[in-house]
Amino acid sequence: MKLSFGNLLFAASSLTAVNAFSIQRLSSVSTSTTSLDARRPILAGNWKLNPKSRDEALALLNGLSPSPSDVDVLIFPPLPYLGDVLKALPAGVQVGAQTCSNYEEGAFTGEVAPSMLASMNVGYVLLGHSERRTLFGETDSDINARVLTCLKEPNLKVVLCVGETLDEYEAGLLNSIVDTQTRKGLSGVSAQDLINGRVVIAYEPVWAIGTGLTATPEQAQNAHTVIRNTLAAMYPSTAVAESVRIQYGGSVKPESIADLMSQPDIDGALVGGASLDAASFNAIVGGASTGAAPVAAAAPVSYAVPAPTVPSSFPSYGGMPRVVEKYVPPAPRM
Ligand code: 13P
Repeated sequence: MKLSFGNLLFAASSLTAVNAFSIQRLSSVSTSTTSLDARRPILAGNWKLNPKSRDEALALLNGLSPSPSDVDVLIFPPLPYLGDVLKALPAGVQVGAQTCSNYEEGAFTGEVAPSMLASMNVGYVLLGHSERRTLFGETDSDINARVLTCLKEPNLKVVLCVGETLDEYEAGLLNSIVDTQTRKGLSGVSAQDLINGRVVIAYEPVWAIGTGLTATPEQAQNAHTVIRNTLAAMYPSTAVAESVRIQYGGSVKPESIADLMSQPDIDGALVGGASLDAASFNAIVGGASTGAAPVAAAAPVSYAVPAPTVPSSFPSYGGMPRVVEKYVPPAPRM
């Protein structure tokens, strides 16, 4: 559980350029503790284009532990596995899609609409991942359109990724890139949706993704403070900046999660490679929990399957009786 006091003290003592929000909060902290609500940690595994088969996906899923009751655990499997994964989830673990369409329905071959995901009990959609931005050309406005379309579905939440490339980092552009991506990604999103937890932000420095280079906890904390400052500047209600959960992503491992989580503005992790190994992912989740008991298993969900529209006695094609009239040769010509 994260309390905002720590943010303020850390930011005030350690940060220079990015501490405007935290300093502003310092002055109001003493009068209100109710708004300093806990931010529940959220740990997510992004399986990306892995594993290669349904059987391997189900084996990975079977290795996952039930979620501890003091954290949210979420996995993003590839779309074709969603149906099976939803039926075999460990207790308390939630499911998200790695992307979705900004169209709601219609002639858009290959697209998947937010309403389709919501109707299957998919709870989250990952949007703005740097691989979607750089490899598939998604712009901030494309991402924003998807965010807004998802939020029209009352039961869908969004994990919005932001983060700078290595060139941008070295050019000193971290603050402005993260600020711009946050502002554009959230354009038109209401304060209420943010306060209600419908958007989680994931800070993923592109240079740390799949490289083994993890941002230090202090670097990640710094970027998360930039994001909170942006939220504070965008939304007059301080409840927004205080309540939005911000994950760190980029080469997170069981060995690094505790130090990351000890930072006041890091509320969880978005894990790529290490989420493909159930033991590693379980250890990362465990490292973010206080050791709370696992969520109790829910009663199995029964999926209503519509009755078949063909009679069960309908013969298969292989067994279809063939009606062949007896061939009667023509009478020989005289
Ligand atoms: P890695 O953990 O493999 O660096 O991937 C991070 C990521 O991109 C999660 O979305």
